[in-house]
Amino acid sequence: MPGVCYFMDQKTDKGILYGVGVGPGDPELITLKAARLLHSVARVYAASSTRNSYSVSLDIVRPHLAPGVTPAVLSFPMTRDAAVLDRAWEENARTVLADLDAGRDVAFLTLGDPSTYSTFGYLLRTLRDLDPTVRAEVVPGVTSYSAAAALAGEPLAEADQTLAVVSGVCGGDTLRRAARAADSLVVLKAYKRFGDIKAALAEEGLLRDAVLVSACGQEGQNLVRDLSQVEEIPPYFSLVLAKKKRG
Ligand SMILES: C[S@@+](CC[C@H](N)C(=O)[O-])C[C@H]1O[C@@H](n2cnc3c(N)ncnc32)[C@H](O)[C@@H]1O
Repeated sequence: MPGVCYFMDQKTDKGILYGVGVGPGDPELITLKAARLLHSVARVYAASSTRNSYSVSLDIVRPHLAPGVTPAVLSFPMTRDAAVLDRAWEENARTVLADLDAGRDVAFLTLGDPSTYSTFGYLLRTLRDLDPTVRAEVVPGVTSYSAAAALAGEPLAEADQTLAVVSGVCGGDTLRRAARAADSLVVLKAYKRFGDIKAALAEEGLLRDAVLVSACGQEGQNLVRDLSQVEEIPPYFSLVLAKKKRG
C-alpha cells in the first residue's frame, strides 16, 4: 500500500526524505513501515552531538538495518549560539540534499515520533530553504510518553479528560499554566529544571501520584512513583506523568 505523502506535491527524479520515528528505545516498538523502509532506502541518517558520534536512535534500529547499510551520523553542536547552530543545520542539510539530488531515497531517524519535539522539523525546514521542491514523508513512531504510560500501567486520559503535553525545559511554569486546563499532564524534558517542575507539581497537588520515567525501553530504564522522594536531577531521557484525581 502506498504511503501517505504529506509533502509530496510534485513529480521529480529526486529521492524522497523519510522522517522515520523509531520509538523511545525498545527495538520491538518500531512500526512495520519503519522497518520496511530501513531495508529499502539508500542511506540511513541519524543525529548525534559533536561531542561523540553516539546516536540512541541508531542503536534502536541496528537490528533492523539491511546488511551492508552503513548509517551516516550528522553531528550537531551542543550550543545555544544560533549562528553556530544554523551553520551546522545548513551543512548537514546539504549532505542530505546531495543524496536526494542524486535520486537516492534516505531515512532520517528520530527518537519516538518525528512530529513530537524532534529534530526532523528543523532538518526539513532547512532543506526546504535550500530547495523548496524537496520531497518528504513522515513515518510516525511510538512516543516516549505513550511507552512510559504503558510501563506505568496508567491510562493517559479517558472519557472527557484533557491531556496536555508540555516541555519542562524552562521549569514548572508551563506545567502550572497547563494544569489549569488539563486533567492529565505529560512533562517532557524533565531534567535540568527538575526542582521547579517538582515545586509546580507540589503546588498543584500532583507530586505524590506523579510518575517519573527515565530511559524508557533503554538500558537503565527506571520508574519512580511519589516524586517527593526524588532529590537528584534525572537524566536527559526523563519525563513525568501526572494526573488529577477523578471526582
Ligand atoms: C527532544 S524530545 C524527543 C521526544 C520524542 N520525539 C518523542 O516522540 O517522545 C526529548 C525528550 O523526550 C523524552 N524522552 C525521549 N525518549 C525517552 C525515553 N526513552 N524515556 C523517557 N523519556 C524519553 C524526554 O523527556 C526527553 O528529554
